[in-house]
Amino acid sequence: MTFQGALAGASRLRDDVVIVNTVLHEFAETLGEAVDAKDGHTWRHSEEVALVSRALALALRLSPVEADVIHVAGHLHDVGKIGVPDAVLLKPGPLTDEEWLLMRRHPVIGADIVRPVRSLRECGVLEMILHHHERFDGRGYPDGLRGDDIPLGARIIAVADSISAMLQKRPYRRNISFAKAQQEILDNAGAQFDPQVVEAFYDIRRSVQQTIRNCNADDPGLPTRKLHANPGLL
Ligand SMILES: [Fe+2]
Ligand SMILES: [Fe+2]
Repeated sequence: MTFQGALAGASRLRDDVVIVNTVLHEFAETLGEAVDAKDGHTWRHSEEVALVSRALALALRLSPVEADVIHVAGHLHDVGKIGVPDAVLLKPGPLTDEEWLLMRRHPVIGADIVRPVRSLRECGVLEMILHHHERFDGRGYPDGLRGDDIPLGARIIAVADSISAMLQKRPYRRNISFAKAQQEILDNAGAQFDPQVVEAFYDIRRSVQQTIRNCNADDPGLPTRKLHANPGLL
């Protein structure tokens, strides 16, 4: 199955979908920033995931509209963390088994949060949020989906999410260099990640690195919307 076919089949995308609406995009950015604001260690994480996901989608030759939908899902991927108790989300150390169970509910909570928004349901954004922690080998959560059963947008976000997270320092671990993060992504092709998404990442790794650099060089006092002056419909 082609990537176009996989994505269209998974999310019933149409070129005239409402998701490209700027207002919806801006709300998605705002919600993403609200999540990141809960945790001082995840500054701009949702923004990075949105931008890198869009670049990966285009590298996989998805249409600009499809890439924009995945971009919006990138902003919203962790919105369910709003429903995770701060004591778990902000814990400065390893989580207990019970705390992991709470943390692992965030994709389901996120899907529930966006469910009332019809265009997010119809474009597949809800499914991308729900499945962004699935693994290509079927060992992820919440549903243990495997391979092409995972929506392509979710497989793309999984790679963008990991690269962004590894470059950010967290209370319980150090950040690592881009070169090491890149190696980690390559080493997990076919296990955690879709090999074709990993290949696309490798093809555009330099621009991914620059995108993340630009994101963090931005003045935190300015709205992030200016980062999106260039891409297609957004
Ligand atoms: Fe955006
Ligand atoms: Fe997540």
